[in-house]
Amino acid sequence: MRTTGITRRRAVAVLTATLLAAGTAACGNSDTGGGPAADDGKIVLGFAQVGAESGWRTANTISIKDAAAEAGIELKFDDAQQKQENQIKAIRNFIQQKVDVIAFSPKVESGWDTVLKEAKDAGIPVILTDRAVDSADKTLYKTFIGSDFVKEGRLSGEWLVEQSKGATGTVNIVELQGTTGSAPANDRKEGFAEAIKANPNLKIIASQTGEFTRAGGKAVMEQFLKANPKIDVLFAHNDDMGLGALEAITAAGKTPGKDITIITVDAVKDGMQALADGKFNFIAECSPLLGPQLMDLVKKVHAGETVPARILTEETTFTQEQAKEVLPTRKY
Ligand code: AHR
Repeated sequence: MRTTGITRRRAVAVLTATLLAAGTAACGNSDTGGGPAADDGKIVLGFAQVGAESGWRTANTISIKDAAAEAGIELKFDDAQQKQENQIKAIRNFIQQKVDVIAFSPKVESGWDTVLKEAKDAGIPVILTDRAVDSADKTLYKTFIGSDFVKEGRLSGEWLVEQSKGATGTVNIVELQGTTGSAPANDRKEGFAEAIKANPNLKIIASQTGEFTRAGGKAVMEQFLKANPKIDVLFAHNDDMGLGALEAITAAGKTPGKDITIITVDAVKDGMQALADGKFNFIAECSPLLGPQLMDLVKKVHAGETVPARILTEETTFTQEQAKEVLPTRKY
């Protein structure tokens, strides 16, 4: 059949549109970070959150959801309820749904290589937020935004060393660790131990996980108190475990902040209140407000821009006096 000029032009138009669409899809699946857009043209971000274990995590989730809405990014949010297998399943779902970018806060450091490779093979860029993975292949993710957990542990230990100057006799320390195998638990433990190691009178007499939760902190502190008649210091890897431990300490007839010096990490509102009230003695801050920076990174990696391999969160430390000053304006 002979084609007229009009049908030929229509055929060319259809072919051009098909090629353009195919080109966009191919770009989307390439490793440069482009991805198939949502129907409304928005970037689609799949976020696999570790859970809701602490005040920090709640503030982090709110920050991510608010920042996504603010940035006009469509967020697919999954709460893995503290299970690595759930996080892996969520990431695989995001790959299947062909989201543009995947971000997640890994529960533990190890065991991610296979799923990260699957995302890379699908051409979907991955951003690590908050916690690191131990993958040797750094090309499996684009960037890692979060705190320096070793520093948080070190600052906590350095404060204790300073406070203990002139102490005669052994200072007995108990440690409430975060989730076993997680970056913050590993790194805070390491930083704290490093800071106190030149002072043999500062002695860690017990160290156990309280899973970053209030209930865990309370239960483990009860055991510590039963097993150890003399506890001088508690180093809790987060505020929530410290807050749980307060209950155990009070129930044991001791005064937190006086009989037992309490050092924690995070500086969420409840922790800062305990510090201002004299129940905690020192907090190393860990900021959960990663949302806005994360959304900037999502836009950049989606556009194929190069981003720094590591982005550190800005943080400080608080004494009881400083907590009283900043508490009224504390955002989380
Ligand atoms: O990974 C950050 C840590 O996880 C926070 O310090 C803790 O509160 C949270 O559960």
